[in-house]
Amino acid sequence: MKKLRVLIVGAAFSADLHSDGYSRILDKVEIVGICDKDLSRIEALAKRYGFTGYTAYDDYNTAIEQCECDLVDICMPNFLHHDVALKAMNAGRDIICEKPLATTVEDAQDMVDTAERLGKHIYYAEDWLFAPAFRKALSILNSGQLGKPLYIRARECHSGSHSPFAQSIKYCGGGCMVHLGVHPVSFMLALKDNRWSELTGMTSGGQDTNLVHQKMEGEDWAGAFIRFEDGTYATLEANYVTIGGMEDVLDIYCEQGCIHVDLSFSGPVKVFSIPGLDYTVEKAEVTSGWSTPAVDEKYNLGYCGEINHFVDCALSDRDADVGLRGMDGLETLKVINLIYKSASEGVHIKKDA
Ligand SMILES: NC(=O)c1ccc[n+]([C@@H]2O[C@H](COP(=O)([O-])OP(=O)(O)OC[C@H]3O[C@@H](n4cnc5c(N)ncnc54)[C@H](O)[C@@H]3O)[C@@H](O)[C@H]2O)c1
Repeated sequence: MKKLRVLIVGAAFSADLHSDGYSRILDKVEIVGICDKDLSRIEALAKRYGFTGYTAYDDYNTAIEQCECDLVDICMPNFLHHDVALKAMNAGRDIICEKPLATTVEDAQDMVDTAERLGKHIYYAEDWLFAPAFRKALSILNSGQLGKPLYIRARECHSGSHSPFAQSIKYCGGGCMVHLGVHPVSFMLALKDNRWSELTGMTSGGQDTNLVHQKMEGEDWAGAFIRFEDGTYATLEANYVTIGGMEDVLDIYCEQGCIHVDLSFSGPVKVFSIPGLDYTVEKAEVTSGWSTPAVDEKYNLGYCGEINHFVDCALSDRDADVGLRGMDGLETLKVINLIYKSASEGVHIKKDA
């Protein structure tokens, strides 16, 4: 069987999430190149996941030019997504792009237009759509046994990004809404086939008006109310003021029932430790006392499922499912920018008004 040849660009946090996915499907994928300006990260990543026979690059231009691959997996800071994507697609490769698709709607639109013009695929890495617990919730919802959905509340929150690039709007595209809220927004848009009708946003504004992170240019708290064409309402939240570990939470209220999912803290393993553990869940500040250590965290957050889906799609030259295409990443960014507009101007926004 022909294997998909992948060049991973960026070898830090998100590259680690994706690599876990690749390492489980080495029968159909081959890591032929890894690029990072910090070469020590490449070696560490490859060692962690047992990748061999790849070429290491410290410059993405050279990597894209020289590496014989089918797909470029972009695990770089947000502001570089556009440049790497364009170069990769112009070199004839499909791409996986981490969230958000770009830092501006214009760049994201350019990426989608380029993919269409060149006949290339953009696989937009929205892991929420592959989290097994969220998929279970959706299958129950879609079975109709709870009746029509009326109201959905979703949030991703933690205490702040580890990445220096998340601190400025130029490099990140905004604050916590574009960095974390991107997940609940994409998830809801995928659920409703991008058919939203009106929205209102509010944020902490950034810098001095932030709740905690006053050196950060973007906001550290944000919320949006969105109404969809079918009448469903949603509250979507993101913040960097949540301590105790990352929260990925989904609540669905229907005519005849409801569903509650807590991805981070609903594991089956409970531990009490006086000295603390090496690790429990993403972004937990302390690990002593009672904790719920995540079981196969990357799989349960959806990263392995998304990588498997993208590899299958690329091998058969097809687009990804709804919510996971370049156009879905673009629509998410448009909605987030309208949430920012609503928040900064104090206006309620109607689609196409
Ligand atoms: N889906 C998720 O849950 C999730 C989680 C974390 C990050 N992300 C996304 O993944 C992307 C990367 O984030 P991260 O946290 O891995 O970032 P990071 O800051 O941890 O790492 C980025 C890597 O890129 C390298 N790099 C930066 N500029 C470079 C250049 N010009 N040439 C070569 N290498 C360069 C850095 O050395 C670093 O190793 C971002 O878009 C982020 O939003 C997604």
